[in-house]
Amino acid sequence: MGMKQAIKKLDAFPRAEEHLLQKTQSGALVSIIGLVIMATLFYHELAYYLTTYTVHQMSVDLTRGETLPIHINITFPSLPCDVLSVDAIDMSGKHEVDLDTNIWKLRLNSYGHITGTEYLSDLVEKEHEAHNHDHNKDHHEDSQAKQHTQGFDDAAETMVKKVKQALANGEGCRVYGVLDVQRVAGNFHISVHGLNIFVAQMLLCIRSISIRNPTVFFQIFDGAKHVNVSHIIHDLSFGPKYPGIHNPLDGTTRSLHETSGTFKYYIKIVPTEYRYISKEVLPTNQFSVTEYFSPMTDFDRTWPAVYFLYDLSPITVTIKEERRSFLHFITRLCAVLGGTFALTGMLDRWMCRLLEALTKPSPRSVLR
Ligand SMILES: *[C@@H]1O[C@H](CO)[C@@H](O)[C@H](O)[C@H]1NC(C)=O
Ligand SMILES: *[C@@H]1O[C@H](CO)[C@@H](O)[C@H](O)[C@H]1NC(C)=O
Repeated sequence: MGMKQAIKKLDAFPRAEEHLLQKTQSGALVSIIGLVIMATLFYHELAYYLTTYTVHQMSVDLTRGETLPIHINITFPSLPCDVLSVDAIDMSGKHEVDLDTNIWKLRLNSYGHITGTEYLSDLVEKEHEAHNHDHNKDHHEDSQAKQHTQGFDDAAETMVKKVKQALANGEGCRVYGVLDVQRVAGNFHISVHGLNIFVAQMLLCIRSISIRNPTVFFQIFDGAKHVNVSHIIHDLSFGPKYPGIHNPLDGTTRSLHETSGTFKYYIKIVPTEYRYISKEVLPTNQFSVTEYFSPMTDFDRTWPAVYFLYDLSPITVTIKEERRSFLHFITRLCAVLGGTFALTGMLDRWMCRLLEALTKPSPRSVLR
């Protein structure tokens, strides 16, 4: 009975019968409320149907012999590019010399603006090239001022001056690019190692001549404790990004305020395959990380650095985008719309009775 009344109330052309007209106002109100609820629920169901969901599957990683791309974008606000070097070593102990690397070093001034670029085509040989270059240039500039016959001695001095100047100016350095490494465990680190090599070379040469300044390196920084390896990791990832990926190191800021030290990030890479709903497959990697900071002690013979030690998980994760079934959507829609309809009908009936009871107070009609 209630259903019929409700349907009658939805009638856009009501018959002009007196007792029906009286009820139309409450009925219309209930109908409108019902329609709003229906529209809301319909919208919700539609949105639910249209969004995809992901299914995770795990299996043993069977890929072999591919390279692992490491995307880095790290800023060192207190280390000039001249002293900074990037090295990658894999488990075989091999320095990555012959793999493709695309790493840039951007010179930053104290405000963080880019003032120069240096391209590192090769992570080990570049040390020598860069320094030779510096040496030649500086030698010309200073040739009149300095009468020393030993180029290395000169180079050392100018190098130290240059770096000291850069440090005084508060220069920083941003390292970014892609490192393609073998798919085996390894590490890459960013350190002041470059200067070390240079100084070592210099000392070797100088040993035969008068040692003017055997502790240049110490002079630059006034000891290892003052090498400020504070850094900001803008981006560190091992492959392209897929929707919903979370790279735990992005946006990490590590600031040193007292003693310097070595940062170590232990990274577990999880090979991941993302399958889009369009059947496109995106091979990439996720990772988890733990970190460790060891402060310098007076007895340390190493220099502060930032290490990223990575290892590969033998388990690969497949993430599949899937769409919900259309029939299921229709079923849910029917249930929701039908249910709302029935409920508003009931509500309408009760309201009618309530109004009836209020306008014509008679206990019989309420209890009917
Ligand atoms: C590196 O990160 C900085 C800071 O977020 C950003 O401005 C810059 O575009 C990034 N560089 C690259 C190559 O993504
Ligand atoms: C190291 O550099 C950071 C970033 O520029 C700075 O905030 C911090 O004070 C420096 N630490 C020391 C000990 O100079």
